[in-house]
Amino acid sequence: MSAMKILTVVGNRPQFVKAAAVSGLLRQQATEVLVHTGQHYDRELSAVFFEELGVPPPEHQLGVGSGSHAAQTGETMVGLEPLIEAERPDAVLVYGDTNATLAAALVAAKLAVPLAHVEAGMRSFDRGMPEEVNRIAADRFSALLLCSTATAVANLEREGLGEGARLIGDVMADVALRIGPIAARRSEALARFGLERGGYLLATAHRAGNVDGPAALTRLVDLLCRSAAEFGPLVFPIHPRTRAGLLATGLLAELERAPGVELCEPLGYLDFACLLRGARAVLTDSGGLQKEAYLAGVPCVTLREQTEWVETVESGWNRLVGLDADAALRSLGELIERRGDERPDPSLYGDGEAGRHVVAELLAWLT
Ligand code: UD1
Repeated sequence: MSAMKILTVVGNRPQFVKAAAVSGLLRQQATEVLVHTGQHYDRELSAVFFEELGVPPPEHQLGVGSGSHAAQTGETMVGLEPLIEAERPDAVLVYGDTNATLAAALVAAKLAVPLAHVEAGMRSFDRGMPEEVNRIAADRFSALLLCSTATAVANLEREGLGEGARLIGDVMADVALRIGPIAARRSEALARFGLERGGYLLATAHRAGNVDGPAALTRLVDLLCRSAAEFGPLVFPIHPRTRAGLLATGLLAELERAPGVELCEPLGYLDFACLLRGARAVLTDSGGLQKEAYLAGVPCVTLREQTEWVETVESGWNRLVGLDADAALRSLGELIERRGDERPDPSLYGDGEAGRHVVAELLAWLT
């Protein structure tokens, strides 16, 4: 056991999944102080992930909640600063690209505490995405840049940040590979929704660009309804941000009436992983889900113009269609037909031991 103390900051649903690959292993070798910023607070987006994935209960809760980017980032910084000063960790560890990531990176940098970033180097090259801004800033301040893919390492090298970059594989892939098969056995989601394996579509949408404002939402709803009509049924767990937009624009009623569309609340990890593995195809604007679909061997149609997970597209398992419904239908048809017995190559996202590599690199870097 090393005497090192690592302060880890998480705040959003995908970060709880990523921490599940690391926290348990880290605690075998060092002291970890886990801080939950509270950016996600609903049970479906937060507590259920801690329970199902065995993430240790956080030592500190900042209770930041929802707000504008400035309010959320600022409040997280104000909460974190005294905490990091009091805990005096040897390093701060952050994941991904959310406002929690940005806030923790800024506070660590200003307090001159070494910063390590898991999922470093991901780029969409679209600065209109808040996540792109968060990633660029977090990488700039991180001395240890733990990368999921060779593409991410190359991105950092181009930005002059190659020295701190380490290719360790993808921590979310660790969890997907380990828990996916368990979920398929344990979850009863298929029976609950009355679905047959391989006989339905699974959709998610929560990106600001797709769900804020009536213009984008109208196109999203049209795309989902037409996909359901042609390849459905379509299961659509609705993120709270998306639900709020759909309610405000009156489009929720249209979705509820649409034939073949099955709406539900956001699901826990096990139920979602089970539905994913049984789906004919996925429609999503999530980054993590593109990768999880690939690993599960499920074709993905991505409702964005770019992706950070370029390997999923290059390997033919993912198509980028934005909110173009015609392109989505065409891609669904082609991907579903082509699927056959093909299997994806999981090694694109590491050896399933990325969490172990995170811990080893962290401790080697600090000693
Ligand atoms: C955030 C991340 C995004 C990540 C996503 C995962 C940023 C900039 N974005 O987006 O990168 O992919 O998390 O889900 O950090 N809300 C609730 N309950 C909650 C949390 C949020 O109802 O527990 C609602 C609120 O109305 C809130 C809205 O959802 O205003 C958006 O939440 P927010 O955390 O700001 O961003 P996400 O869209 O979840």
